Amino acid sequence: MPDDQTPRDTAASPLSAARPKAPLTGEVMVPGDKSISHRALMFGALAVGRTEISGLLEGEDVLATAAALRAMGAGIERIAAGRWRVDGVGLGGLAEPADVIDLGNSGTAARLLLGILATHPFTAFVTGDASLRSRPMRRVTEPLSRFGAQFMSREGGRLPLAVTGAANPVPQTYRLPVPSAQVKSAVLLAGLNTPGTTSVIETTPSRDHTERMLGHFGAKLTIEPEEGGGRRVCVAGQPELMAAPIVVPGDPSSAAFPVVAALIVPGSEATVANVGLNLTRAGLLSSLREMGADITLVNERTEGGEPVADLRVRAGALTGAEIPPERAPTMIDEYPILAVAASCAKGRTVMRGLGELRVKESDRLAGIAEGLQRCGVNVAIEGDDLIVEGDGRPPPGGALIRTRLDHRMAMAFLVLGLATKAPVRIDDARPIATSFPDFVPLMARLGAHLTPV
Ligand code: S3P
Repeated sequence: MPDDQTPRDTAASPLSAARPKAPLTGEVMVPGDKSISHRALMFGALAVGRTEISGLLEGEDVLATAAALRAMGAGIERIAAGRWRVDGVGLGGLAEPADVIDLGNSGTAARLLLGILATHPFTAFVTGDASLRSRPMRRVTEPLSRFGAQFMSREGGRLPLAVTGAANPVPQTYRLPVPSAQVKSAVLLAGLNTPGTTSVIETTPSRDHTERMLGHFGAKLTIEPEEGGGRRVCVAGQPELMAAPIVVPGDPSSAAFPVVAALIVPGSEATVANVGLNLTRAGLLSSLREMGADITLVNERTEGGEPVADLRVRAGALTGAEIPPERAPTMIDEYPILAVAASCAKGRTVMRGLGELRVKESDRLAGIAEGLQRCGVNVAIEGDDLIVEGDGRPPPGGALIRTRLDHRMAMAFLVLGLATKAPVRIDDARPIATSFPDFVPLMARLGAHLTPV
């Protein structure tokens, strides 16, 4: 498949997961971090010179970003597996795209690119798949309008939308109303091509890959603590962004699936190698350990400016835990798989402050509850909290789960099916290719054979 296409015209691909005959064993390496991969391409495109990237995630979401940047004049080329070369156009140098930009399933691509487009003085049309078209964009178009950009969107600020970037942008100080790295990044990216200093204040720290990459490419950035525990990120506009090599670490959000699989399939002992452990992403590890998970970090190192380790995982009894709301931004994509672990644990797991899960690739709060209920799990939603009650034994399973264009729901429920008494089926495995194209063969290498139905 050419590297800028997504297989939208194929039929749904149902998949079934059943208990493996033997424990999971072996060592696997997860693909590159999705958040860092998007940003590597974007910063490479905005810099002067050639950026060499290794370990890039070649999932559909990231390929959509590559295609969009190419359509606006950046030179983006695949050299070998995970090795990409970006010839940047320089800050402010992107050109009007000749056609609609289709970002598929990717919220990160859409929101961050809108930030970039907000201070490029041309008009672009942006759309995505049914999932992305249903997601809120006002959270970025509202702050980006303050720079002087103009947006014309569907009802509720949704895609498709047209953006005309500001010719004379005005720098902003913006306090995030929701804890969102995507909104923070969109504002900082708009601020990059704006004279003066743009600041974003976040009360709960979210993933900081944009900040790290701004520094890596030579932008002037300051991060100061705010009273009450938050922080203020300030970027000086119109720096000379210089190309810089990037090594993308493995994605902790992808690692979460084989890690939990090895925890809940009795007798398993597996290593998931090359996992990024940036503190703003490490909430799942803390939560699983509080539940009694046996996970050891080996070979701790720093790669491409990010902490990385191999995770050695041993199956064992898990107990319920209280997961506080302030942890949510550090594990926002991991709640489906944490809820799966909780359903195999003994006791009550209370996951608090999950309102943002309602606006992910699908309504994950409702989807987790519905799917677990179908699998015979005692589960409830109270306000923005999710409560899962386990008895320390695997749930019955035996259900068909609708994945609703959501890769993480698909993978989480397949992992659950490796432990349940009866197999769990999902209606469509295609969304998995957005973030983890080799999920099925990787799980097979551990001994978990997921079968088409
Ligand atoms: C991401 C931020 C998170 C996360 C998404 C990737 C990013 O979204 O859910 O998968 O790369 O900045 P929010 O910022 O909307 O929480």
